[in-house]
Amino acid sequence: MIDEIQRLETDGVARIGAAATLDDLVAADRDVLGKKSALNGLKRGLGGLSEDERRTVGAALNAAQQALRAAVAAKRDELTASTRLAEAEAERLDLTEVRADRDAGHLALITQVIEELEDIFVGMGFIVAEGPEVEDDWHNFTALNFPRHHPARDLQDTFFVGLGGEREVVMRTHTSPVQMRLMESQEPPIYAVVPGRTYRNEATDATHLAVFHQIEALVIDRGITFGHLAGTIDRFIKVFMGPGYATRLRPAYFPFTEPSAEFDVQRPDGTWLELGGCGMVHPNVLRNGGIDPEAWSGFAFGFGLDRLATTRQGIPDLRELTSPDIRFLQQI
Ligand code: FA5
Repeated sequence: MIDEIQRLETDGVARIGAAATLDDLVAADRDVLGKKSALNGLKRGLGGLSEDERRTVGAALNAAQQALRAAVAAKRDELTASTRLAEAEAERLDLTEVRADRDAGHLALITQVIEELEDIFVGMGFIVAEGPEVEDDWHNFTALNFPRHHPARDLQDTFFVGLGGEREVVMRTHTSPVQMRLMESQEPPIYAVVPGRTYRNEATDATHLAVFHQIEALVIDRGITFGHLAGTIDRFIKVFMGPGYATRLRPAYFPFTEPSAEFDVQRPDGTWLELGGCGMVHPNVLRNGGIDPEAWSGFAFGFGLDRLATTRQGIPDLRELTSPDIRFLQQI
């Protein structure tokens, strides 16, 4: 009988261990320990045994039942934990959302154009530089060969910053002062572009803003010629504007370049728009920057970014660039 009890215990533990779900376990519990179980049948038969036998068999039966109950409890814990895990897994919510591409807004047109132009020039071996928007007279004018009281200063209507005292300070009227800052801080050869904000005290119209943007380029190396200047402008305009735009260089005057030229692009309606000025860096400017004009030569150009951007985009009026109209902004 003791053997029988041990066999029932071993089989019962195996049965309980095999339960794959909580329902299986309830059934196994009932079969192994329930009223109709073989173990219970043996218990009922205890009455027919001698007192000694009853004590021994009774103890074996209790031990077997305890072992089986412990097996059921352990299995229940295990199955409850795994069921909870499976439920949690099934109920997992993906709280992330893929938002529509343009829903979150976008960079301003000028910022997009600055990034694109930086890529184009970095691809040609230029570095990107910057300088202050509030500039002293030396860098904005004097070092660029605009002597004090020279009429060329009138070409750029200037906002003066009234700090008082000796030093004249202005909102920079162009990005050209950064030419001088580059020469002061680096040895040639220099290949740099400078995108940035510029200010002029002028009445706004379709092609003029009081706060606008330019991109300046400065190249100083040995043996630089006007051909390098024309080739560089031609390359960047072709890459930026795409094919099909007629362009022209025409003679012009800037105090800090000699010879100088202005660069125009033809708009689809046949009219020409001035995009920027350019020329060979004047020897006085090289000297002011501490560079020997006998050993080095260079070119520079400064283009209006707002005009570049609007011409390519087919926007007829620069003032649109500051428009908060959502119908306009959505087209960019
Ligand atoms: C200059 O500012 C020179 N610094 C350019 C230069 C650089 C010449 C290096 C030689 C060597 P200008 O004043 O022409 O030049 O302005 C250059 C361009 O800036 C213009 O062709 C135009 O595209 C743009 N620009 C000038 N004023 C305005 C304005 N008020 N609003 C919008 N764009 C402007």
